[in-house]
Amino acid sequence: MWDYSEKVLDHYRNPRNVGKIDNADLIGEAGSLACGDSLKLYLKLDGDKIIDAKFQTFGCGSAVASSSILTEMIIGKTLDEAKKITNKDIAEELGGLPQEKMHCSVMGHEALEDALKKYYGDSIDDDLPQDTADKIVCTCFNVTENQIWEAIKVNNLKTVEEVTNYTKAGGACGRCKSTIKDIIDTYWKGAPKREDVHLTATQKILKISKVIEQQISPELQKDGGDIEFIDLDGNKVKVKLTGMCQGCKNSRMTIKTFVESILKEKVDSNLEVVQE
Ligand code: FES
Repeated sequence: MWDYSEKVLDHYRNPRNVGKIDNADLIGEAGSLACGDSLKLYLKLDGDKIIDAKFQTFGCGSAVASSSILTEMIIGKTLDEAKKITNKDIAEELGGLPQEKMHCSVMGHEALEDALKKYYGDSIDDDLPQDTADKIVCTCFNVTENQIWEAIKVNNLKTVEEVTNYTKAGGACGRCKSTIKDIIDTYWKGAPKREDVHLTATQKILKISKVIEQQISPELQKDGGDIEFIDLDGNKVKVKLTGMCQGCKNSRMTIKTFVESILKEKVDSNLEVVQE
Protein backbone atom coordinates (compact mmCIF):
# COMPACT_ATOMS: atom_id res chain seq x y z
CA MET A 1 0.00 0.00 0.00
CA TRP A 2 1.42 3.43 -0.94
CA ASP A 3 1.92 6.05 1.71
CA TYR A 4 0.13 9.19 0.47
CA SER A 5 0.27 12.68 1.95
CA GLU A 6 -2.94 14.31 3.18
CA LYS A 7 -2.72 16.75 0.27
CA VAL A 8 -2.58 13.95 -2.31
CA LEU A 9 -5.64 12.34 -0.73
CA ASP A 10 -7.47 15.66 -0.62
CA HIS A 11 -6.81 16.43 -4.30
CA TYR A 12 -7.71 12.86 -5.26
CA ARG A 13 -11.00 12.97 -3.35
CA ASN A 14 -11.85 16.57 -4.27
CA PRO A 15 -10.06 17.30 -7.53
CA ARG A 16 -10.01 20.97 -8.54
CA ASN A 17 -10.60 22.32 -12.04
CA VAL A 18 -11.80 19.09 -13.62
CA GLY A 19 -13.24 19.36 -17.12
CA LYS A 20 -12.69 21.05 -20.41
CA ILE A 21 -12.34 24.68 -21.54
CA ASP A 22 -14.27 24.93 -24.81
CA ASN A 23 -12.37 27.94 -26.17
CA ALA A 24 -9.00 27.07 -24.66
CA ASP A 25 -5.99 29.03 -25.99
CA LEU A 26 -3.54 26.20 -25.37
CA ILE A 27 -4.07 22.46 -24.96
CA GLY A 28 -1.41 20.01 -23.84
CA GLU A 29 -1.52 16.23 -23.75
CA ALA A 30 0.63 13.56 -22.14
CA GLY A 31 0.51 9.80 -21.72
CA SER A 32 -1.92 7.63 -23.63
CA LEU A 33 -4.79 5.36 -22.77
CA ALA A 34 -2.86 2.45 -24.26
CA CYS A 35 -0.14 3.05 -21.66
CA GLY A 36 -2.54 3.13 -18.72
CA ASP A 37 -2.91 6.85 -18.06
CA SER A 38 -3.38 10.06 -19.95
CA LEU A 39 -3.87 13.73 -19.27
CA LYS A 40 -5.29 16.59 -21.28
CA LEU A 41 -4.68 20.09 -19.95
CA TYR A 42 -6.61 23.17 -21.14
CA LEU A 43 -5.32 26.72 -20.61
CA LYS A 44 -7.18 30.01 -21.04
CA LEU A 45 -5.00 33.09 -21.40
CA ASP A 46 -5.34 36.82 -20.92
CA GLY A 47 -2.28 38.14 -22.72
CA ASP A 48 0.54 35.97 -21.37
CA LYS A 49 -1.27 35.22 -18.10
CA ILE A 50 -3.01 31.91 -17.41
CA ILE A 51 -6.44 32.87 -16.12
CA ASP A 52 -8.00 29.41 -16.15
CA ALA A 53 -6.84 25.82 -16.36
CA LYS A 54 -8.78 22.60 -16.43
CA PHE A 55 -7.88 18.96 -16.92
CA GLN A 56 -9.27 15.63 -17.98
CA THR A 57 -7.33 12.60 -16.91
CA PHE A 58 -7.56 8.86 -16.99
CA GLY A 59 -5.29 7.35 -14.40
CA CYS A 60 -4.71 6.51 -10.77
CA GLY A 61 -5.30 8.70 -7.73
CA SER A 62 -1.79 10.20 -7.96
CA ALA A 63 -2.44 11.22 -11.58
CA VAL A 64 -5.68 12.95 -10.55
CA ALA A 65 -3.97 14.67 -7.60
CA SER A 66 -0.96 15.76 -9.70
CA SER A 67 -3.21 17.20 -12.43
CA SER A 68 -5.44 18.93 -9.91
CA ILE A 69 -2.60 20.61 -8.02
CA LEU A 70 -0.92 21.57 -11.30
CA THR A 71 -3.98 23.58 -12.36
CA GLU A 72 -3.91 25.41 -9.02
CA MET A 73 -0.19 26.09 -9.41
CA ILE A 74 -0.48 27.64 -12.87
CA ILE A 75 -3.68 29.69 -12.64
CA GLY A 76 -2.60 33.31 -12.18
CA LYS A 77 0.91 32.70 -13.46
CA THR A 78 2.42 34.10 -16.62
CA LEU A 79 3.52 31.59 -19.25
CA ASP A 80 7.15 32.40 -18.44
CA GLU A 81 6.53 31.53 -14.80
CA ALA A 82 4.61 28.35 -15.68
CA LYS A 83 7.45 27.29 -17.98
CA LYS A 84 9.74 27.02 -14.94
CA ILE A 85 7.55 24.50 -13.11
CA THR A 86 9.09 21.02 -13.01
CA ASN A 87 7.64 17.65 -12.08
CA LYS A 88 9.61 17.93 -8.86
CA ASP A 89 7.72 21.12 -7.99
CA ILE A 90 4.40 19.35 -8.62
CA ALA A 91 5.37 16.46 -6.33
CA GLU A 92 6.67 18.86 -3.66
CA GLU A 93 3.51 20.91 -3.79
CA LEU A 94 1.57 17.71 -3.07
CA GLY A 95 3.72 17.06 -0.02
CA GLY A 96 5.58 14.33 -1.90
CA LEU A 97 4.59 11.25 -3.89
CA PRO A 98 5.72 7.64 -3.46
CA GLN A 99 8.77 6.98 -5.69
CA GLU A 100 6.76 4.48 -7.74
CA LYS A 101 4.17 7.19 -8.45
CA MET A 102 6.53 9.99 -9.47
CA HIS A 103 5.65 9.31 -13.11
CA CYS A 104 2.28 10.97 -12.39
CA SER A 105 4.02 14.26 -11.60
CA VAL A 106 6.09 13.80 -14.76
CA MET A 107 2.90 13.33 -16.79
CA GLY A 108 1.56 16.63 -15.38
CA HIS A 109 4.74 18.43 -16.33
CA GLU A 110 4.73 16.90 -19.81
CA ALA A 111 1.15 18.02 -20.47
CA LEU A 112 2.09 21.54 -19.37
CA GLU A 113 5.21 21.47 -21.53
CA ASP A 114 3.19 20.22 -24.50
CA ALA A 115 0.75 23.13 -24.09
CA LEU A 116 3.57 25.67 -23.75
CA LYS A 117 5.36 24.30 -26.82
CA LYS A 118 2.42 25.54 -28.84
CA TYR A 119 3.25 29.03 -27.58
CA TYR A 120 7.05 28.95 -27.43
CA GLY A 121 7.78 26.42 -30.16
CA ASP A 122 10.19 23.52 -29.66
CA SER A 123 12.86 25.72 -28.09
CA ILE A 124 11.30 25.28 -24.65
CA ASP A 125 14.23 23.18 -23.40
CA ASP A 126 17.51 24.27 -24.90
CA ASP A 127 19.44 22.23 -22.36
CA LEU A 128 19.04 18.98 -24.25
CA PRO A 129 22.05 17.75 -26.21
CA GLN A 130 21.99 18.77 -29.86
CA ASP A 131 21.82 15.19 -31.09
CA THR A 132 19.00 14.12 -28.76
CA ALA A 133 16.16 13.51 -31.17
CA ASP A 134 12.69 12.98 -29.78
CA LYS A 135 12.83 9.27 -30.56
CA ILE A 136 10.92 6.59 -28.72
CA VAL A 137 13.10 4.60 -26.33
CA CYS A 138 10.41 2.60 -24.55
CA THR A 139 7.81 1.34 -26.99
CA CYS A 140 5.73 -0.28 -24.23
CA PHE A 141 5.00 3.12 -22.65
CA ASN A 142 5.78 5.40 -25.55
CA VAL A 143 8.54 7.25 -23.66
CA THR A 144 10.99 9.33 -25.67
CA GLU A 145 14.68 9.99 -25.18
CA ASN A 146 13.92 13.64 -24.40
CA GLN A 147 11.50 12.65 -21.64
CA ILE A 148 14.05 10.35 -20.04
CA TRP A 149 16.78 12.98 -20.32
CA GLU A 150 14.53 15.60 -18.72
CA ALA A 151 13.54 13.26 -15.86
CA ILE A 152 17.22 12.49 -15.12
CA LYS A 153 18.13 16.17 -15.20
CA VAL A 154 15.31 17.51 -13.04
CA ASN A 155 15.24 14.69 -10.49
CA ASN A 156 18.91 13.76 -10.33
CA LEU A 157 18.20 10.15 -11.32
CA LYS A 158 21.07 7.67 -11.28
CA THR A 159 19.55 4.21 -11.87
CA VAL A 160 17.30 2.52 -14.40
CA GLU A 161 14.85 1.69 -11.60
CA GLU A 162 14.55 5.38 -10.73
CA VAL A 163 13.94 6.27 -14.38
CA THR A 164 11.18 3.63 -14.45
CA ASN A 165 9.57 5.14 -11.35
CA TYR A 166 9.60 8.60 -12.90
CA THR A 167 8.71 7.82 -16.51
CA LYS A 168 7.40 4.21 -16.55
CA ALA A 169 10.04 3.44 -19.23
CA GLY A 170 11.43 -0.03 -18.61
CA GLY A 171 8.47 -1.09 -16.48
CA ALA A 172 7.04 -3.79 -18.78
CA CYS A 173 9.03 -6.02 -21.14
CA GLY A 174 12.33 -4.44 -20.08
CA ARG A 175 13.82 -4.41 -23.59
CA CYS A 176 14.62 -0.72 -23.31
CA LYS A 177 16.57 -0.97 -20.04
CA SER A 178 20.01 -1.09 -21.66
CA THR A 179 19.20 2.04 -23.70
CA ILE A 180 17.98 3.79 -20.56
CA LYS A 181 21.26 2.84 -18.86
CA ASP A 182 23.18 4.35 -21.82
CA ILE A 183 21.23 7.61 -21.53
CA ILE A 184 21.94 7.77 -17.77
CA ASP A 185 25.65 7.13 -18.41
CA THR A 186 25.77 9.75 -21.17
CA TYR A 187 24.06 12.31 -18.96
CA TRP A 188 26.32 11.78 -15.96
CA LYS A 189 29.47 11.42 -18.04
CA GLY A 190 28.73 14.92 -19.31
CA ALA A 191 27.73 16.29 -15.92
CA PRO A 192 31.20 16.83 -14.43
CA LYS A 193 32.05 19.04 -17.40
CA ARG A 194 29.34 21.47 -16.36
CA GLU A 195 30.74 24.91 -15.83
CA ASP A 196 29.14 25.26 -12.39
CA VAL A 197 31.02 22.31 -10.90
CA HIS A 198 34.24 24.29 -11.05
CA LEU A 199 32.96 27.55 -9.64
CA THR A 200 34.65 28.78 -6.47
CA ALA A 201 32.43 30.17 -3.72
CA THR A 202 33.32 33.72 -4.79
CA GLN A 203 32.57 33.02 -8.44
CA LYS A 204 29.28 31.43 -7.41
CA ILE A 205 28.30 34.49 -5.35
CA LEU A 206 29.10 36.82 -8.24
CA LYS A 207 27.11 34.69 -10.65
CA ILE A 208 24.11 34.43 -8.30
CA SER A 209 24.14 38.22 -7.78
CA LYS A 210 24.24 38.79 -11.52
CA VAL A 211 21.38 36.39 -12.29
CA ILE A 212 19.25 37.86 -9.49
CA GLU A 213 19.96 41.40 -10.60
CA GLN A 214 19.51 40.85 -14.33
CA GLN A 215 16.88 38.14 -14.58
CA ILE A 216 14.97 37.53 -11.35
CA SER A 217 14.59 41.00 -9.88
CA PRO A 218 13.18 42.61 -13.08
CA GLU A 219 10.48 39.93 -13.26
CA LEU A 220 9.44 40.42 -9.62
CA GLN A 221 9.46 44.19 -10.06
CA LYS A 222 6.77 43.85 -12.74
CA ASP A 223 4.38 42.80 -9.93
CA GLY A 224 5.62 45.43 -7.47
CA GLY A 225 7.96 43.09 -5.63
CA ASP A 226 11.68 42.54 -5.50
CA ILE A 227 14.38 40.36 -4.03
CA GLU A 228 17.65 40.85 -2.16
CA PHE A 229 20.49 38.37 -2.18
CA ILE A 230 21.63 38.05 1.44
CA ASP A 231 24.22 35.29 1.65
CA LEU A 232 25.53 32.00 0.31
CA ASP A 233 26.15 29.25 2.85
CA GLY A 234 27.47 26.15 1.06
CA ASN A 235 24.77 25.60 -1.55
CA LYS A 236 22.12 27.41 0.48
CA VAL A 237 21.21 30.78 -1.06
CA LYS A 238 19.62 33.12 1.47
CA VAL A 239 17.35 35.76 -0.04
CA LYS A 240 14.80 38.27 1.16
CA LEU A 241 11.63 39.05 -0.78
CA THR A 242 10.66 42.70 -0.60
CA GLY A 243 7.84 44.99 -1.76
CA MET A 244 4.65 43.18 -2.78
CA CYS A 245 6.46 39.82 -2.56
CA GLN A 246 7.08 40.28 1.14
CA GLY A 247 4.53 38.32 3.18
CA CYS A 248 2.72 37.22 0.00
CA LYS A 249 0.96 33.87 0.54
CA ASN A 250 2.67 32.52 -2.57
CA SER A 251 6.15 33.55 -1.48
CA ARG A 252 7.28 29.96 -0.88
CA MET A 253 6.16 28.98 -4.38
CA THR A 254 7.87 32.05 -5.85
CA ILE A 255 11.08 31.03 -4.14
CA LYS A 256 10.92 27.40 -5.22
CA THR A 257 9.33 27.49 -8.66
CA PHE A 258 10.81 30.73 -9.89
CA VAL A 259 13.91 31.91 -8.01
CA GLU A 260 15.37 28.50 -7.21
CA SER A 261 14.71 26.98 -10.62
CA ILE A 262 16.40 29.90 -12.41
CA LEU A 263 19.45 29.79 -10.12
CA LYS A 264 19.67 26.01 -10.51
CA GLU A 265 19.52 26.37 -14.26
CA LYS A 266 21.86 29.34 -14.62
CA VAL A 267 24.34 28.86 -11.78
CA ASP A 268 24.46 25.46 -10.10
CA SER A 269 21.89 22.65 -10.03
CA ASN A 270 22.74 21.92 -6.37
CA LEU A 271 21.58 25.29 -5.06
CA GLU A 272 18.73 25.55 -2.59
CA VAL A 273 17.05 28.91 -2.07
CA VAL A 274 15.65 29.86 1.35
CA GLN A 275 14.10 33.04 2.70
CA GLU A 276 15.97 34.88 5.41
S1 FES B 1 10.23 -1.30 -24.40
FE1 FES B 1 10.41 -0.37 -22.43
S2 FES B 1 9.43 -1.73 -21.09
FE2 FES B 1 9.12 -2.61 -23.04
